[in-house]
Amino acid sequence: MQPNKIAITAAPIAPVLAERWSPRSFNKDYLLTQHEALSILEAGRWAPSSNNLQPWRFAYISKTDELHGAICEKGLTGFNQSWAPNASALIVVAVQVNTADGKENTGRKYDAGLAASMMVVQAQELGLHTHHIGGLVREEILELLKLDSNYEILTVIAVGKVAPAEELQGPAFEREVAPRVRLELDEIMLYGKP
Ligand SMILES: Cc1cc2nc3c(=O)[nH]c(=O)nc-3n(C[C@H](O)[C@H](O)[C@H](O)COP(=O)(O)O)c2cc1C
Repeated sequence: MQPNKIAITAAPIAPVLAERWSPRSFNKDYLLTQHEALSILEAGRWAPSSNNLQPWRFAYISKTDELHGAICEKGLTGFNQSWAPNASALIVVAVQVNTADGKENTGRKYDAGLAASMMVVQAQELGLHTHHIGGLVREEILELLKLDSNYEILTVIAVGKVAPAEELQGPAFEREVAPRVRLELDEIMLYGKP
């Protein structure tokens, strides 16, 4: 069974946005094609950024890479370790803290969030799904990727083909079939009523 996860909106939004959701049931046999991987990463590369500083850095880790298993085992927190290993690839989103002239880039996380968002939408456009993971052991990921202290790990994005919800058990299954919920537009608007 595929749960109905389409966003309910007051006015239509692009199908790729309405249909995006974050599954935990991924097809364990699917590997991303080179075209898919490049397309997702290019979408991130072309994100806007403050002063065009492009502070984001990505690590692309296919399931065929032994680093995939190592990140799942050491770099993810408990619950995430139960479902992320089936994802076709993991994209680590990191940022450079300081610019080349040694000044802190205070806009780095906003910029990298935009890049991550672009990758998520591009993956959806390709018929893939993504799931952000913030439950990380960041120092382990820094170590596994051999990154110095000018890098911060923000998130890991699991990417792959969605699989039936029934392939999950327990709390993961319950969450997979739960409706997607959001605050109402009125609750998040600070000013202006369209
Ligand atoms: C920055 C970030 C961190 C997240 N961390 C986790 C996580 O560690 N584990 C998890 O299962 N889901 C995680 N999620 C997924 C959210 O729970 C999910 O996006 C949210 O419930 C909305 O569901 P939807 O993406 O299906 O609309 C994270 C999402 C974001 C954006």
